[in-house]
Amino acid sequence: MSKGKQIAFTLLLMYLALVAINRTTFVNAEPTEEYKGSGYCISCHPDQGGEYSQSAHTNGYSNEDFQEVWADLGSTADCLECHTTGYDKTTETYALAEVQCEACHGPGDTMERDTSPELCGECHTGPFPTYDEWVNSGPSHGTADCMTCHNEHTSKMEFETPDETCGQCHDSHVIQVDDSTHGLNDVGCVDCHMNIEEADFYNGIQAKTGHSFNPKEHELDCSSCHDRPLEKHDVLGEKATACLSCHGDIHELKLELVNRETYDNDEPVALCAQCHNERYTDWSQGTHGAHDNPQAVCTECHDPHIPTINKISTLEPIPTRELDDPAPLLYKIAFVVVLEILAFSVWILRRYNNV
Ligand code: HEC
Ligand code: HEC
Ligand code: HEC
Ligand code: HEC
Ligand code: HEC
Ligand code: HEC
Ligand code: HEC
Ligand code: HEC
Ligand code: HEC
Ligand code: HEC
Ligand code: HEC
Repeated sequence: MSKGKQIAFTLLLMYLALVAINRTTFVNAEPTEEYKGSGYCISCHPDQGGEYSQSAHTNGYSNEDFQEVWADLGSTADCLECHTTGYDKTTETYALAEVQCEACHGPGDTMERDTSPELCGECHTGPFPTYDEWVNSGPSHGTADCMTCHNEHTSKMEFETPDETCGQCHDSHVIQVDDSTHGLNDVGCVDCHMNIEEADFYNGIQAKTGHSFNPKEHELDCSSCHDRPLEKHDVLGEKATACLSCHGDIHELKLELVNRETYDNDEPVALCAQCHNERYTDWSQGTHGAHDNPQAVCTECHDPHIPTINKISTLEPIPTRELDDPAPLLYKIAFVVVLEILAFSVWILRRYNNV
């Protein structure tokens, strides 16, 4: 390195260090900064301003639903923390209505860039425990945080449809569902994986936002769309659990055995055989089922959901068994005869001795 280059390099390092120091003080600016409102920010950041104008955050406070419920509950201050910007707990006042730029970036020239899900979690908790559900969903979605799926400025989905969102990482499932009867009828990932229930503010009941993405935890209820009550087979479990013991390949809508072999819906024999082995054996030997059509599969006679066939007995009545083997009777007679001979001999002997 030449002397000139060395000096230039040192100067560059000093400059970078200065910038770094400057930057830390800049970012860690004391909250003495004043809230200035989104108009101030947008004057220099028009792009983000345009995106933000589409966001639900722009009316986090003026939103009619909020105003109505809030008024019903006596307009208490503790509702304002997440529906305003710069809320101060001690004075119970806020700087700006709505969820504005500075709610996420700090007041005035703080201009903090926080990309953590905890930023969203400050407000998306409590009555709408989105953040908590996401955290509790386990490690699987650690790489899929709020901003993977939602745009921070528009607050819309990053992708056109929810299915596309999930498909970023689960494309094989998307292909399976798309080709199934569900996909063709617009039933998508969210319908089964996200159980969404509104919050009930009047009774203090939290919402369910579906962000654990796990259908079992939600106790998915297939009968919310399907009127298929189960009889007898209801013993197989609660809600979706029962359905899944047969419709186990739920994404392709095929029947699935415990060993994960799958069958089309019109090939149920192996499935039924798994649990009704005796009847299956009878069926395969031709002693159960139709005499005229031994190929008829189980579901041609049994509705898999209500399998008993009331009052129609196509089976031969089971004959009552009778004892028609004579051998036991002969043994009995022989036994009595032998006993009698013995008794007679004893009587004869006694008589002899007495004489
Ligand atoms: C006078 C113009 C101006 C105003 C007003 C302004 N900014 Fe900035 N902002 C800038 C410039 C210049 C940068 C630096 C760009 C860079 O770091 O690449 C910046 C950077 C940022 C960044 C990125 C910081 C980072 O670490 O990457 C954020 C976030 C930000 N501004 C938010 C805001 C918010 C919120 C407001 C309103 C409270 C605001 N800005 C007001 C000019 C402005
Ligand atoms: C911890 C933060 C927080 C607190 C405290 C809070 N909310 Fe909210 N509220 C939110 C968030 C976040 C949403 C948006 C949730 C969503 O759409 O999933 C919301 C949405 C709402 C909505 C629905 C708005 C709509 O778009 O339909 C109403 C109504 C509401 N809140 C009322 C209240 C009332 C009343 C209180 C006080 C009892 C309150 N909130 C306290 C965070 C909060
Ligand atoms: C709900 C929270 C939230 C609100 C409200 C919000 N931002 Fe941001 N903003 C973010 C997050 C998070 C990032 C960082 C995104 C990243 O790096 O992936 C960001 C990034 C930025 C950046 C850096 C450049 C960029 O686009 O990545 C600027 C500038 C910015 N925001 C300005 C604004 C302005 C101006 C407003 C209001 C009109 C605003 N933001 C409202 C959360 C928010
Ligand atoms: C200061 C509190 C606050 C913060 C921080 C916040 N939000 Fe919100 N968010 C709200 C409130 C309040 C609503 C409800 C607004 C309404 O329905 O009018 C909301 C609504 C939403 C919605 C619903 C949009 C819709 O169409 O109904 C999404 C998505 C959202 N926020 C995502 C985020 C993300 C992602 C972050 C983090 C980058 C974030 N929010 C940070 C308070 C907040
Ligand atoms: C894997 C993708 C994914 C992740 C990660 C994710 N979300 Fe969502 N979010 C969704 C989907 C999908 C919906 C439902 C959209 C629908 O019903 O059409 C949704 C709905 C929402 C809504 C309600 C929007 C509305 O229209 O009412 C809010 C608010 C929200 N998410 C906030 C968050 C926050 C905050 C985080 C981080 C803690 C987060 N989400 C993480 C995919 C995700
Ligand atoms: C950024 C990538 C990513 C996105 C986007 C994503 N996932 Fe996942 N998901 C994963 C990873 C990684 C796993 C764990 C490994 C696996 O089972 O494939 C996982 C696992 C799962 C599981 C298994 C249960 C569990 O907790 O282990 C379900 C169910 C699931 N995801 C549903 C969804 C749904 C529904 C969506 C769309 C709303 C979605 N995922 C979006 C990455 C993602
Ligand atoms: C008809 C309801 C339904 C639909 C639609 C659905 N799923 Fe599932 N999914 C389930 C059920 C139920 C399970 C749990 C199966 C089990 O544990 O036996 C599951 C399990 C999963 C798993 C974890 C186990 C595995 O098979 O890897 C992932 C990942 C998943 N689904 C992703 C998706 C995605 C992505 C979509 C949308 C393209 C989707 N699912 C659509 C009901 C559904
Ligand atoms: C959001 C509504 C919805 C949910 C939830 C749902 N389904 Fe469906 N399902 C449909 C619709 C719509 C169809 C097509 C019309 C029909 O057959 O009823 C369908 C069709 C089916 C079919 C017929 C497949 C074929 O090829 O003929 C089966 C089997 C099925 N669903 C099982 C389930 C099971 C099991 C669950 C629960 C894990 C479930 N569905 C959850 C809406 C739903
Ligand atoms: C004992 C196994 C079994 C159980 C449990 C079961 N199914 Fe089925 N289901 C089947 C079989 C096999 C078929 C195909 C019947 C055929 O094609 O003749 C079927 C067909 C269907 C169909 C499409 C044909 C029709 O009847 O419209 C729907 C929808 C369905 N099942 C929903 C459900 C739901 C919802 C549950 C849970 C409440 C459930 N099933 C539980 C075995 C089962
Ligand atoms: C996962 C195991 C399982 C599968 C698969 C299964 N069953 Fe069952 N089945 C049961 C159980 C458990 C009962 C309840 C027995 C009871 O009530 O004593 C039952 C009851 C029945 C009954 C009524 C028996 C009675 O005592 O009245 C019939 C008929 C029947 N199943 C037929 C079928 C047919 C046909 C199939 C295939 C479509 C099938 N089952 C698949 C477990 C299963
Ligand atoms: C041709 C029609 C037909 C076919 C095919 C058929 N079954 Fe049956 N099954 C019946 C009739 C009828 C009964 C006696 C009526 C009843 O008890 O419900 C019966 C009884 C049963 C029972 C006992 C019910 C009880 O009350 O004890 C089971 C379990 C059963 N069948 C399973 C199967 C299985 C598994 C298959 C396929 C391998 C099958 N069936 C095929 C007509 C049929």
